[in-house]
Amino acid sequence: MRALLLGSGGRESALAWALSRSSAIDELVAAPGNPGIAEHATLEQVDASDAAAVIELARRVDAGLVVVGPEAPLVAGVGDALRADGLAVFGPDTEAARIEGSKSHAKELMVAAGIPTAAAQTFTEQAEAQAYMRQLGPPYVVKADGLAAGKGVVVTSDWDEAAAALGERLGGGRSVVIEEFLDGEEVSLIAFTDGRTVVPCEPAQDYKRVYDGDAGPNTGGMGSYSPVPACPPGVVDEIVERVLQPMVEATAARGAPVTGALYAGLALTSEGPKVIEFNARFGDPETQALLPRLDSDFGEVVIATASGDLAGVELDWSPRACVTVVLASGGYPGPHETGYEIHGLDKAAALEDVLVLHAGTRRDGDSIVTAGGRVLGISALGDTFEAARERAYEAASLVQFDNVHLRNDIATRAIERGDGG
Ligand code: AMP
Ligand code: GLY
Repeated sequence: MRALLLGSGGRESALAWALSRSSAIDELVAAPGNPGIAEHATLEQVDASDAAAVIELARRVDAGLVVVGPEAPLVAGVGDALRADGLAVFGPDTEAARIEGSKSHAKELMVAAGIPTAAAQTFTEQAEAQAYMRQLGPPYVVKADGLAAGKGVVVTSDWDEAAAALGERLGGGRSVVIEEFLDGEEVSLIAFTDGRTVVPCEPAQDYKRVYDGDAGPNTGGMGSYSPVPACPPGVVDEIVERVLQPMVEATAARGAPVTGALYAGLALTSEGPKVIEFNARFGDPETQALLPRLDSDFGEVVIATASGDLAGVELDWSPRACVTVVLASGGYPGPHETGYEIHGLDKAAALEDVLVLHAGTRRDGDSIVTAGGRVLGISALGDTFEAARERAYEAASLVQFDNVHLRNDIATRAIERGDGG
């Protein structure tokens, strides 16, 4: 089978790596891809959110399966268009993708289905939003209602900062969601679903803030690790039962079941797991720390998901730990310069148990240069979190480009918990 992968980030690099190892997939085409994905796929310069162009490409390459990596094409309706054209798609229709595209819609579904989540209200007026913020008290959580690549959220105890964030996100008919602050370690649980059956991955943890010690603004994610000692198998079962399965049923009952990857971001609070957000796709960088641990054939699971055949599927996971460190352009998630030559990629990739996954890179003649906020993800496996972490940072130190920024504390939390992985 020939598969078409849509997207060009670190997540898609991990997906491409895993799909290329599958015995169910003979050939991989990616659009638009990146220089790392090009090691596993033929690249086509097609805009992943342009439904007509994607259909034309899928037909031209005779794709038996289309795997949609990022949220933008899903929200834009590329899944619907491909399915209407008779293609097998991994990824939901636009209506189901609204669980990610609209935070207020996700909240409404959660409340209706009794899924544990933070109390929240949606506002279009500043004064009313401020009154609710005062009522909830600090820390304040202010969220833009639409897609914001993980950067639309401000969490702060500083009233003036919260009020300013509110002002920036309102106006022009836009709405904001003000939310109760959830206290507890965060975990991402991603499941395969065909709209009925839910097959969870092992948990992963994401590092959202840009600086060490969870300081600075939120980003798309600066690093990740899996498994998560704070989220043992019993808690995973609880999340499947109380969060993921009810969400699939809630969307199915409304006529548009979520299919593909269902991502729940949760806080493990003293009252149990509570949802921070849902996404309708794999997490980035979580996927970069998950797929190296997946011993099952990823392509087979993706095909089963896309064809509604997940019942009875179980996943095998390596007991080893995986740690992913993101190398970003200094300044990200704010303004940053790109176009810097990247050195040392081959040296890093040659290390045992290391995967160098491209995110924001581009080919420039014979070199590879930076082309985005998150530039690379470096994933390393190890028998313990310490070993995986050491290996990931060793590989990261071999890669150089001007203005590089990385967090130095990825997975220290897992080590402090004293679990070997
Ligand atoms: P989101 O885009 O909704 O996932 O928010 C991004 C990040 O902001 C989350 O991963 C959390 O670190 C933080 N955050 C969002 N909502 C809350 C909340 N209600 N309580 C605590 N932290 C939150
Ligand atoms: N890493 C968070 C996300 O993929 O939304």
